[in-house]
Amino acid sequence: MSPRKKVVTKKAVKTTRKSVRGAKTAKKTAAKTVAAKPRADRGAKAPQLLRGMRDILPADQNYWDYIYDTARELARDFNYGRIETPILEETNLFVRAVGKETDIVQKEMYTFQDTSGESITLRPEATASIARAYVTHGMLNQPQPVKFWYWGPMFRHERPQSGRYRQFYQFGFEALGEDSPVLDAQIIMIANDFFKEMGLPITVQINSLGTPESRQAFKTELVSYYRSRRGQLCEDCKKRLNKNPLRLLDCKDEGCRGLRNEAPQIVDWLDDGSKNHFMKVLEALDEADVPYVMNPFLVRGLDYYTQTVFEIWPEGDDDEARQNALGGGGRYDLLVEMLGGRPTPATGFAIGVERVISYLRSAEAKVPAVEKPEIFFAQLGEQARIKALALFEEFRKARIPLAEAFSKDSLKAQLEIANKLGAQYTLILGQKEVLDGTILIRDMEAGIQEIVDQKKIVRQIQKKLNKPLAE
Ligand code: HAM
Repeated sequence: MSPRKKVVTKKAVKTTRKSVRGAKTAKKTAAKTVAAKPRADRGAKAPQLLRGMRDILPADQNYWDYIYDTARELARDFNYGRIETPILEETNLFVRAVGKETDIVQKEMYTFQDTSGESITLRPEATASIARAYVTHGMLNQPQPVKFWYWGPMFRHERPQSGRYRQFYQFGFEALGEDSPVLDAQIIMIANDFFKEMGLPITVQINSLGTPESRQAFKTELVSYYRSRRGQLCEDCKKRLNKNPLRLLDCKDEGCRGLRNEAPQIVDWLDDGSKNHFMKVLEALDEADVPYVMNPFLVRGLDYYTQTVFEIWPEGDDDEARQNALGGGGRYDLLVEMLGGRPTPATGFAIGVERVISYLRSAEAKVPAVEKPEIFFAQLGEQARIKALALFEEFRKARIPLAEAFSKDSLKAQLEIANKLGAQYTLILGQKEVLDGTILIRDMEAGIQEIVDQKKIVRQIQKKLNKPLAE
């Protein structure tokens, strides 16, 4: 565009209007062939949160921090190292690890083709990725067991309902490279300790699935029991009968529940080695005073388990508790090998963070509050705002958080915000103070103000808050 000024005459305006009209007609014609460019989105429906997904807002962070800090402390106490694996993995990893016929793989995975045509999946759980990482990084050469803990989002396209989200968080502990039943007991103890720390009453439900061979013999018996009662099964269980018979024991349907009581029990089919392993796990738990409930119907929804399996249920009615399971885990001795590694026994668990939060809320448990700034900074005028930044840095160095409302000009409005935030003191910096190098401290409760040299302000506040004095 030329920077020269144009003289706008009436004629010029008319011509412009005409050309605008002409352009409009031309545009309409073009719109028929080319999709119209989106306008500035005014009036368009605002983007919505996806179903089953949630925002985690600052007001809820105290719950998140509390759970995270407790998990991290347990990890430190038991010497589990933090691991983070990618959220996206090859689809095949989960199909192989979790199992082709499981609900997760059949119905719940977010699977996409990326631009190179590779099938990738948003992780529905983390154990598969951790076993993969163990192989990828040749961790078999490290002292065994290798112990990990993790925290992060998982994705399952389930029907959203209370306690069931499509993006949810888990933290988990996994120990790879050792087959001792004591390690199973340690894993269960850590999960139990977590809920003890939270002050939440739970039960540890425990069972053994034995080896694939003993399980196969049990499955045959189970199928023959249910086949002769097929007519009484729900439609889902009729399908499960062929594809995933163990899940028959897990069905919520009334009729199926009735049949379950007379069904064969897996403990009776365990081979001697599995029985022995299970007894030792229970013995170690008894020794450590970790209470548990033997649950012969507990089968879990993932295929990689061998031997010990367990779930953490909130205390209360069994059916409801099962639906709201807070966590689950067990031994998965064949997984690493299934993913191309050397035979590596392993055991672990994961806990659902949202479910713990919901339990904390319903139990009205005490949760440490998020630390709020005790100091509010109020400014009057441009110069004060500019000066503010350097002051903020001084306070940051002394680790004293400051709140502010830079967009507000009036002192009254700023003091109102300071009150709402529950600040103990407000620092007031006006034009005059900028010029003479001072600042006001206002005691919000007493309403008293004092003038302080700007150079001494951090020290003064440290004294008032009883904080250790910075050098
Ligand atoms: P999982 O039983 O599928 O096990 O999940 C563990 C926990 O994650 C559940 O008990 C529940 O609290 C939470 N959870 C699962 N699905 C949802 C959902 N849609 N919405 C909210 N929370 C949910 C596993 O994932 C195994 N990887 C556990 C494991 C670790 N086994 C051995 N090591």
